[in-house]
Order: sequence, then C-alpha cells, then structure tokens
Amino acid sequence: MPRQLFVTTALPYANGKFHIGHIMEYIQADIWVRFQRLMGHQVHFVGADDAHGAPIMIAAEKAGKTPQQFVADIAAGRKEYLDGFRIAFDNWHSTDGIENHELAQSVYLGLRKNELIEVRPIEQFYDPEKGMFLPDRFIKGECPKCGAKDQYGDSCESCGAVYSPTELKNPYSALSGATPVLRTSDHYFFKLSDPRCVEFLQQWTQEPDKLQSEVINKIREWFTQDEDGKGGLGDWDISRDAPYFGIEIPDAPGKYFYVWLDAPIGYLASLKNYFDKGGPKARYGETRGYDAFIADPAVEQYHFIGKDITYFHTLFWPAMLHFSGRKVPNNVFVHGFMTVNNGEKMSKSRGTGLDPLKYLSLGMDPHWLRYYIAAKLNARVEDIDFNPEDFASRVNSDLVGKYVNIASRAAGFLAKRFGGRLSGELGVEGNVLLDGLQAHKDTITTLYETREFGKALREVMALADRVNEYVDRNKPWELAKQAGQDAVLHDVCSVCIEAFRLLTVYLKPVLPGVAAQVEAFLQVEPLTFADADRRLGAQVIGAYQHLLQRVDPKLLDALFEAPAPEKVVPGGEDIADEIKIDDFSKVDLRIARIVKAETVDGSDKLLRLTLDVGEGRTRNVFSGIRSAYKPEDLEGKLTVMVANLAPRKMKFGISEGMVLAASHADEKAAPGLFVLEPHGGAVPGMRVR
Ligand code: MSP
Ligand code: ZN
Repeated sequence: MPRQLFVTTALPYANGKFHIGHIMEYIQADIWVRFQRLMGHQVHFVGADDAHGAPIMIAAEKAGKTPQQFVADIAAGRKEYLDGFRIAFDNWHSTDGIENHELAQSVYLGLRKNELIEVRPIEQFYDPEKGMFLPDRFIKGECPKCGAKDQYGDSCESCGAVYSPTELKNPYSALSGATPVLRTSDHYFFKLSDPRCVEFLQQWTQEPDKLQSEVINKIREWFTQDEDGKGGLGDWDISRDAPYFGIEIPDAPGKYFYVWLDAPIGYLASLKNYFDKGGPKARYGETRGYDAFIADPAVEQYHFIGKDITYFHTLFWPAMLHFSGRKVPNNVFVHGFMTVNNGEKMSKSRGTGLDPLKYLSLGMDPHWLRYYIAAKLNARVEDIDFNPEDFASRVNSDLVGKYVNIASRAAGFLAKRFGGRLSGELGVEGNVLLDGLQAHKDTITTLYETREFGKALREVMALADRVNEYVDRNKPWELAKQAGQDAVLHDVCSVCIEAFRLLTVYLKPVLPGVAAQVEAFLQVEPLTFADADRRLGAQVIGAYQHLLQRVDPKLLDALFEAPAPEKVVPGGEDIADEIKIDDFSKVDLRIARIVKAETVDGSDKLLRLTLDVGEGRTRNVFSGIRSAYKPEDLEGKLTVMVANLAPRKMKFGISEGMVLAASHADEKAAPGLFVLEPHGGAVPGMRVR
C-alpha cells in the first residue's frame, strides 16, 4: 500500500522576495517529497504566502498599495524561484484565500466550543494620529535601563535589556512620531495554560521516535517554570484590533486573528484549495474530497520548518488542531539556518550575500545548489554554511568528477564500436560490482527517509568511487586499442552504463533534471527506486549529451560581487548642530586593539570586547555589533574607541568606553554596521584628532 503524505514548508511572509534561507528549506523538503514519490508513495506538497499582519499592512501602505495588491505582487514573483530551483510544490496559495478565512474561523469556533477561549482587557500603546494600536516593533523610545535613545519596544540594542513597550521612556510611534497613549482593549486568548492543553502537549511532544532531540530539549525548557513562576505555558493572545490585515474573529466586531493564528491554518487552506481544483484526482485518481482526506488517520502530515518557528509549530499548532477536533501532525521537521560565507548571519527580511535570482540569472545550474545543500544537510537542527570554495570543489570533484564522468567515459565507445547496444553479459567482475551497488539501496533509502541527505550522498559517492576504480583497473581506452578485446571492452562499457543508471536512481531526488536527461540518454522510462532492483540488459541506448558543467570560479566571484549601487543612499539623518574645536577635543578617541571578542550570554545584540588602548591594562567594552560580526573575525584588529566615556553599568557588566561604527539611520535604506579600522601603521593608544 502506498503511503499517503501531506507535506508542507513554512509559509513565507509576503513582504519580501525569497532569500537563500527559504530556498534551502524548499530544497530540503522537495528532495524528501521526490524521494517518497520515487518509492511509490503519494504525496501532496503545498505551500502558500503568509499574507497577514501589521508589518505587511504597513509596508503596503508605504508602497501605496492595498494589502491585497501588495501580496499579490509578491506572489507573482514566486514561480521564477520555484521553477528555477526545480522545487515542485503541487499548489501555492495564500493565507488570505477564502479557504483560510473559513478554516481559521472554524478552528476558532472549535476552540471556543471547548471553552478554551477567554476574553481579557489589556492595556497597550495606541497611536492617536494613526488611529491604531502599535505592535511592539513600531514603538520606540529610550531604554528604561541604560537610557539609550531610539530603542525598540521589546529590547535595548545598546545594553541588551528586555522589557515591555510600556516601560520605555519618552516613547514615540515609529509610524507617525506621535506620543502613544495607553488604551485598554479586549483581547482574545487561547487558554494554553488549561490543564487539558498542558497534558495533551506533554503527551504529543514526548511520543517516541518523533521530534528531534534538540527540539524536545527546547520544549522541555518552555514547559518549565523558573522560581519566580515565570515561563511555562502561558495563554496566547490571538487577537488584534482593527485596523489589521487579517481574518475577522466571529462574533467580535473590530477584532482580527493575530497572524500566527491563521498562518499555519494556511497549510490546510492550500491543501483544500488544491483538492477543490481537482489536483489529487488528476494525479492519483483520488476520489475523496478535502474533508475526508484530511480526517483519514492513514494520511501522514509533515511540516518542514526552520528552528526559529519551532514554538508555533510544536505547541500552538498541534493544540489548535487537537482542540478544534482535528488530526494533529505526525511530525515537524526542524532545520537550522543557512548562513553564507562563514556564518555571516542572514537578516530575515533581506537575506544576504547569495541572491537566488542572481544565481539563476548567471546561468548557474540549480542542481549544483541542490547537490551542495543536500550534501551538507542532516536530520539535526544544525546551521549550514555556504562556502564558495567548498561549493565549487564538491560539485566539481564529486558530482561531475565522480558521477557524470562514468557515463562520459563509456558512452563514446558504445556508440562508436557497438551501435549503442549494451552487452547482456557484463563479466564476473562487473556483475559483482553492480550487485554491490544494488545492495546499497536499503541503506540509501533509509538515509533519505530519515533526512540524512549528507550521509546518503556520501554513500552514493563511495559507490561512484568503486565504479571509477573498476574503470581504472579495466582501462577501456587501452582495451579499445588492443586486437581481440572487443567483447571485454563492450562488457566494461556496459557495466559503466548500468552502474551509472543505478547511481542516477540514487541521486534522482536531488538531481531531478539531470535524471530526466539520463533517462532520455538511456532511452528508459522515468526511473524510480524499484529500478535499482533490475538491470537494463542488452538494450540500445541513445547518444550521450553533456549532462552537467563544472563550476567556473568566475561565476562565484560574479555571484558575490556587490551590485553597483543604484543610487547614493544619504546618511539618513541631518548633520548635528555645529560645535567648536574645543567641544570636539573633549572626546578622547584612541586607537584600540581588539584583543578578544566574545558573544554575550542572554544577548543577541552585544559582543563583549577586550580592548588594548596602550595603558598597560585592558578594557571591557560591550558593543551592539553582534548582528554584523563574528567574534573571531574581529580579534586582533585595530579600531577606534571613545576612551574617556564615563564607565557604564550594564546588565552584563561594566562597559568602559565605546567603539565606533558607521550605520544608516534607517537599516532598510542601507543595511549594515561597519566598525572603523585605521590605515596601516597605527598602534594602540594613539590619539585620533
Ligand atoms: N511566516 C512565518 C512562517 C509561518 S508558517 C505557518 C515565517 N516566515 S519567514 O519568511 O520569516 O520564514 C519562512 C521560513 O524560512 C521559516 O521556516 C524560517 O525558519 C526559514 N528561514 C528564514 N531564514 C532562514 C535561513 N537563513 N536559513 C534557513 N531557513 C530560514 O517565519
Ligand atoms: Zn539599554
């Protein structure tokens, strides 16, 4: 019996294009889905845009569009990426689709019927000019702990303090500049702290052989309360007040579902949309409608997501489904983050370094990236890095050098000397080799099934090594020159083609387009894993055509070359009031050597720097540059610091000065943070004047 699988990837926010992190997630899921299909299983693989929420509403307004139009424009750009990287979703929908409105309301009513919804008044900042409640990230002000200006409503980038927006001093709305006022409004809560929810989630998350061990550990932390009674499962605020781009809450005028309530329901909405369009019927002869399908206990449901949204998917989502009377996911597969060029952190909104569309427009082969990402992936929640040299070497030496080469070494002789017909015989050594390759099928399929793609590819490449050793031992190029060796040459080349076909089966989830070319070359039906159990025999194959280029390092240079600035971005803030030279001299700027740089536990903004300013002792300075630098990249470097700044007590210790860095007032206009570095020759302690 074929398995019936319903598979999703996280729904990307519809306020930006795909970046390499999205593409990585889709490639991971796509490989798994293709693998399942090649095993004969039935898969429905769907995605959608996550359309709702305040940030999208505000971005649309800035762009002078309706939110609907804004997300439609983003949606129109998706296909180019998905087709380009051979990511074969069966359906792509939107959380603003009618199906999602209906399903979200139905889930909510189910929760309400179970008495898991509660209304409570809460006090929140309201922008009187804009006429709306402000999400935390749209409120700014002075840090209540250190007094730093222009800090966001949830945490301070300067001292790392975490607080609620109402604690900010001199708060202002980032939308209008107005001073926000506190207003009370009724909010709707999903009572996750209800013992029924706690018990259900304890049980669901601890089912054996389900969640990854790192995920289980995280969840354990989330369940645990500290001594102050903080932590543990709290009730979840699922409503937002109008104006909001979202789905209306039934019987609650002016109230909308918080975007994270309706976002995962979008998985079901996209599936329903696909069913209603007749997709499953056309593909698998499915006769049931969406409702019957999704309620069938035999249907397996899997979600691929990144580590940052684990909480929503392993706690909120199963609880929403279960307590609205629905089936829960069979599993949630969590992956780490993709970084580029040695862990440079990727911003969620703008990505970094590797622009997927630029990759495609340079004519770089999507199979290179699929192979490289697959080779680095495992079933754990580990970050993976894109490194250009590593990329070129893996593609060139493994994929092209080991795999593609096998076909190109044998095909010419077969065409020229044997009319393209394979020998049925193959010889003892050849048969042993092929038996060995076939015997690895179970190991390889198990590795794919468990998402150990890197290990699966290492297995396949080890098999390719065996084949190449066989070729090197038998030297077809010498056999071709010797009289009376035709039959042996014929066998050796035929063994290569059989072996190449087997390796192609094993690589097909990763290299769908290459496999299609191989099928045309071998003149065979589309390969599946069942084809690893049989042999071609004495059939005629077609003419070999080049399958895959090597990576030219010049392409990688072009890929990472900074784009020419389209326009000069001004600094974004007015020049400060005029000062006298005496004012300036009060600031004692010194050259400092960064002796040590470390991350700070409990802060994702700060680095702790140990600086040598030529005083015979070192200084401790906290600097909000973690988003832009890896500690080890700073160590040993020179920079400029304010050396006579009064020491400041921070949550993490005392900061004895400040290092200088350049940035734009508006992160979005010109992203980045750049620490100053003197020209060569400067030494620690020199004054900057
Ligand atoms: N809209 C939510 C998800 C809702 S799912 C019901 C969201 N969107 S997102 O666009 O920010 O992220 C979409 C997916 O991309 C998430 O799984 C996220 O973890 C993943 N990634 C975002 N940046 C990433 C990397 N740098 N690397 C790998 N995946 C990352 O969150
Ligand atoms: Zn602060």
